[in-house]
Amino acid sequence: MNTRNTRFGIRRRVVRRNATALAVSAMTLSLAACGVMDGAGSESGASPTKGDDITVGLLLPEKENARYEKFDFPIIEKKVAELTNGEGEVRYANAEGKAAEQGIQLDQMIDAEVDVLLLDAVDSEAIASGVQKAKDAGIPVIAYDRLAQGPIDAYVSFDNTLVGEVQGRALADELGSTPGSKIVMINGAPTDPNAAQFKAGAMAEFQDKVTVAKTYDTEDWSAANAGANMEAAITSVGLGEIAGVYAANDGIAGAVIEVLKAAGVSEVPPVTGQDAELAAVQRIVAGDQFMSVYKSYPEEANAAAEMAVALVQGRSIEFDALSRDKVDSPTTADIPAQLVPVTALTRKNIAETVIADEIYTVGEICTEKYREDCAEIGLK
Ligand code: BGC
Repeated sequence: MNTRNTRFGIRRRVVRRNATALAVSAMTLSLAACGVMDGAGSESGASPTKGDDITVGLLLPEKENARYEKFDFPIIEKKVAELTNGEGEVRYANAEGKAAEQGIQLDQMIDAEVDVLLLDAVDSEAIASGVQKAKDAGIPVIAYDRLAQGPIDAYVSFDNTLVGEVQGRALADELGSTPGSKIVMINGAPTDPNAAQFKAGAMAEFQDKVTVAKTYDTEDWSAANAGANMEAAITSVGLGEIAGVYAANDGIAGAVIEVLKAAGVSEVPPVTGQDAELAAVQRIVAGDQFMSVYKSYPEEANAAAEMAVALVQGRSIEFDALSRDKVDSPTTADIPAQLVPVTALTRKNIAETVIADEIYTVGEICTEKYREDCAEIGLK
């Protein structure tokens, strides 16, 4: 068993439940605990065996990074339709980075009597009272990507500590020939528990290998804030002293690279990222960004849709099979979870990752500007 504690107190237990946990009785118990099972003692008002005519409420956190509108929402919408013979629907709201707005959107979902909520929190702590309200209204809540606090029924995400480890290891290895090199860390938003896990995973890899000269959190994960942090880092550490930058995601990486170029670097030092955004893949092709982390959005989003539909329809065996990991949030223990693995994305494996998975076509990546670089790495 691999147990880790983070600043947010999220405990990741990468342990698969024993196959015997698939026994129907155990399954029934676990779903009953989620408050959606039928029979005596049912704690929720939700209809236990709903058919295909269901509504999944989807609350996403922001639009500045491309993934939410380009992948998460459309994939979940398509999968819910597929799983419900076209009868189920997704009611979607995006909080555009505002925690208070997300609270309002959650209330609206409760008023609209959605059957289940998929919640990607702007602020994991602030939304806890909303999660409780949904629970009181008999609506199960599945935390999506970010682990919201409060009485969550299940969690679907990537293995976020692994994301940080993959980023940290890649950067440390790249700088390997000069141990003790100074790096700058531009982390994600302090309200997002994932950001703390990314940072912790990366820090574990940096130990004794590189020196973290400066570290910053990026309010709201905003590119503008990340750029300002990078400018402060250059002033404090000195442009020539920065051997590499840990940028928590591709939005941050883009801002960091822009600031480094504007400051006049002759060659951009290795900069990490995450999300495999199209612009980042192109920067990687061109050699401006060192790496990203490819997280299969279809895997995460399809799993979330499957879990939501199974939960509402009372299909406990499927639900249990979909949530064989366990995590603890600061408020809630033993949350059934699915943590999807991730892959480092560099110039070397673009074809095997985002192209093989049909996230992008070669044509989308290799536009006129990148044609030569693409040819160099055999992308055609
Ligand atoms: C997600 C990342 C994303 C970031 C900013 C994190 O919680 O896991 O994929 O880049 O939020 O939205």
